[in-house]
Amino acid sequence: MELKKLFGYEGKTVVITGAASGMSRAATELLLELGANVYAIDINSIDLPVMKAYQADLSKKEEIDQVLADLPEKIDALFLCHGIAHFKGKELLVQKVNFYSQKYMTEKLLSKIADHGSVTYISSVGGFGWEQVYDKAVELINLPTWEEAMKWYDEHPELISNAYVFAKQCLASYVTYKCMSKEFIDRRIRLNAINPGDTTTGLTEDFNRSTSPNGNVKEGEEIISNIFLKSWNGYAAEAKEMGYPMVVVGSDICSYMSGQLIYIDFGLTSSWTSGALLQKSQKTIEEISEEANT
Ligand SMILES: NC(=O)c1ccc[n+]([C@@H]2O[C@H](COP(=O)([O-])OP(=O)(O)OC[C@H]3O[C@@H](n4cnc5c(N)ncnc54)[C@H](O)[C@@H]3O)[C@@H](O)[C@H]2O)c1
Repeated sequence: MELKKLFGYEGKTVVITGAASGMSRAATELLLELGANVYAIDINSIDLPVMKAYQADLSKKEEIDQVLADLPEKIDALFLCHGIAHFKGKELLVQKVNFYSQKYMTEKLLSKIADHGSVTYISSVGGFGWEQVYDKAVELINLPTWEEAMKWYDEHPELISNAYVFAKQCLASYVTYKCMSKEFIDRRIRLNAINPGDTTTGLTEDFNRSTSPNGNVKEGEEIISNIFLKSWNGYAAEAKEMGYPMVVVGSDICSYMSGQLIYIDFGLTSSWTSGALLQKSQKTIEEISEEANT
C-alpha cells in the first residue's frame, strides 16, 4: 500500500494556523510532503510553499472573519495550533488566542468542513486536570456569540487568572463535549487534540520568562525543568515530535478516532495519574485496616 494514499492528504484542502513556527510549521512541512493543498495562517509571515499564506492576528474577530471568508469552500482537515504564553495583564488575550478564536473558527468553518473531515487542536499537559473546570468550560462553550463570551470572561476573573492553563483546559473540554454533538457526529467530523509536554519551539523563551516570578529566563527554565523534566530525567521534545503525530491524528489513518486528548509527553502525565491512584488506594487500604481494627 502506498503510504501517501494511507494518509489521504493528497490533493486535499488543509487549513492550519500557527504555521510560521514550531509544531505547526513542522506539521505544515509534512502536510506539503504528503501532497496536501495547504492554506496557512499566522500573525507572522510564513515562508513555506503553501497554496496561500495569510498574515492575521487571530485574537481579533474582524481579522479572523476576513481570512475565513477567503478560504476555499471545502476544507478536509483543519488544524488549530496558534498559541502564546501567559504574561500578567494578558489574561483575556491568552483566552482569545489559545481557546476562544479556535472554538470560533471551528464553528464558523463548520459548513465548509467536508463530511468525514477532521479538526485537530494543540492543547497541552498544562491543561491536565481539565475535568475540574469542565462545567464552567461548557457554560462558556455554549454561549452563542463572541461578544457574550467576552462578557463571560469579564465576569470570571478568578478562572482566567490562571490564563494559559484555563485556556488549554477549555480546549480539552471542547473536544470532549463536542465530539458527539449532532453538528459534528452526523457528518462524521472528528475532533481531537494533542497535549504536548515540554517542547523546544518559538514559545520556549516566553514560557521560561513568564514562569519566573522575576521574569528571568534562566530561573523560569529551571522551574519548568523541575516540573516537567527532573522527575523522569527527561529532555524537551523537538517541534516535529508533536507536529508529525498531529498530522497522523488528522489523517485518514485515524478515521475512527474522535474525542481524544492525546498526551505526547513520554508518559509524564500517566506517571502523575499513577501517583494519584496509588496514593488514593493507599488511603483506602489504611481506612480498611482501621475499620478492621475497630
Ligand atoms: N512548546 C511547548 O512546550 C508547548 C507545550 C504544550 C503546548 N504547546 C502549544 O503548542 C502550540 C504551538 O506552539 P509552539 O510551541 O509550536 O510555539 P511557536 O511560538 O513556535 O508557534 C506558535 C505560533 O502561533 C502564532 N501565533 C501566536 N499568536 C497568534 C495570533 N494572535 N494570531 C495568529 N498566530 C499567532 C505564532 O506566531 C507562532 O507561529 C501552542 O498552542 C502552544 O500553546 C506548546
